[in-house]
Amino acid sequence: MKLILLGAPGAGKGTVAKLLTEVDGSVQISTGDILRGAVAAGTELGKKAQGFMDAGDLVPDDLIMGIMGDRLQEDDCAKGFLLDGFPRTIPQAEALKVLLTDLGIELDMAVNLDVARDVILDRLSTRRTCSNSDCQAIYNVKSNPTKEEGICDKCGSPVVQRADETEEAITHRLETYNEKTAPLIGFYEKEGLIVNVNATSSDAVVAAITEKL
Ligand code: AP5
Repeated sequence: MKLILLGAPGAGKGTVAKLLTEVDGSVQISTGDILRGAVAAGTELGKKAQGFMDAGDLVPDDLIMGIMGDRLQEDDCAKGFLLDGFPRTIPQAEALKVLLTDLGIELDMAVNLDVARDVILDRLSTRRTCSNSDCQAIYNVKSNPTKEEGICDKCGSPVVQRADETEEAITHRLETYNEKTAPLIGFYEKEGLIVNVNATSSDAVVAAITEKL
């Protein structure tokens, strides 16, 4: 499958993407995970991105397109891909359209995960993420806790709150989403690709997507 997952911070894009990889081996491509990996590794990209991310701002479009232009041409994308957190702005969506046309790739759909704001705030304040940048498994102290407190079930590394999970950064990320990313719903509606789903249950989202495919 070749999907875009849209939705506010905490809507469950990463959680749904990980479930969908198990359906047909499509790869999850999360720009957030790629950027956090670069920050942890101290690369040039990470140094450029860190300040934006910690403040809850978007990383500039040219940096993101540089990453995605290469990533979408890697061999594992041939099976299918789940774009998690990309595109995030209208210029990114327009650049992606050109890139996919050049590569001869057609998207199946752009899925908008719809979740109420109070649920989002609760999910973000209770999320825990594996600190190992090669793993980055997602947990939640309420809905999906680790088996052993504070330790990732998959790789045994400590699970932590992300640097952008301060109250101030969360508020700013939600404002940025409303201003810059929510307009993508209209963009993909015009493209005839949008599918809106209530994302209260991740399993129900996966079922709705697989049924549509
Ligand atoms: P990114 O990592 O993409 O963050 P985000 O979009 O803010 O989304 P999140 O990862 O916070 O949430 P999610 O929707 O994946 O939810 P999750 O599944 O974890 O981006 C981080 C930063 O990187 C950005 O702020 C920006 O600076 C930069 N960046 C990234 N991409 C960029 C781009 N394209 N352009 C420019 N800058 C970019 O779920 C949240 C919690 O809820 C978890 O605890 C989970 O367990 C729980 N949960 C999920 N689903 C359910 C459910 N159904 N029921 C109960 N709990 C649930």
